[in-house]
Amino acid sequence: MKKLIAGNWKMNGIQASLEEVARLVIGLDGGAASDRDLLICPPATLLAKMAEEFSDVIFVGGQNCHERESGAHTGDVSAEMLADAGASYVIVGHSERRADHHEVDSDVKAKAMAARRAGLTPIVCVGESEAQRGEGEALNVVGAQLSGSLPEEEGELVIAYEPVWAIGTGLTPTLGDIAEMHGFIRDRVGSGVRILYGGSVKPGNAHDILAIKDVNGALVGGASLKASDFLSIVSAG
Ligand code: 13P
Repeated sequence: MKKLIAGNWKMNGIQASLEEVARLVIGLDGGAASDRDLLICPPATLLAKMAEEFSDVIFVGGQNCHERESGAHTGDVSAEMLADAGASYVIVGHSERRADHHEVDSDVKAKAMAARRAGLTPIVCVGESEAQRGEGEALNVVGAQLSGSLPEEEGELVIAYEPVWAIGTGLTPTLGDIAEMHGFIRDRVGSGVRILYGGSVKPGNAHDILAIKDVNGALVGGASLKASDFLSIVSAG
């Protein structure tokens, strides 16, 4: 399975930040990496321009979408709008949205279904908190999130396992714990679904993480903002 290396820029990036993508493309020798798919999910304000300039080398995606196609939802962006701007993927159910916007599994499921309706591949995020891992509940928590967040119908799907306590902290689970969780998710979703690991992926740990069975790529936050770091991760493993 071709690995997917995805950058989530979160609420970072202005027009000038597109220069980082240009540097990334130069680092890739101007061509797409043949053995892996590259994706950047910039803020919605940069999506159309990023897609226009770089979609021959990278995929571009959204960080969230509304479940409806259009309507009176001030400030929201629909999956159809992301697709129209050049997106191929959209992240749904990121733990920051679950926390900041009180999104629950049923919201995430509706957004994942909206993504498919618009022809986008949803990247559904799951992951346990530090307390839940400490209590030995990580597999149960992720199992429940999968049950509640995934569309019932077959279709394009990517899962991102992002332990909440590993995001932006420099901490990561042991390689054994990542392997256990990815094996657990694989049993639930079958062989055709890419399962990404996310949470403090850096140039220094990407090789070991990407070598784990059933890790089909990475969802990278902070280290995706600098072309040199993202390039090292893309080239790892
Ligand atoms: P960091 O790589 O900054 O830990 O963020 C991970 C993440 O949340 C990606 O979606």
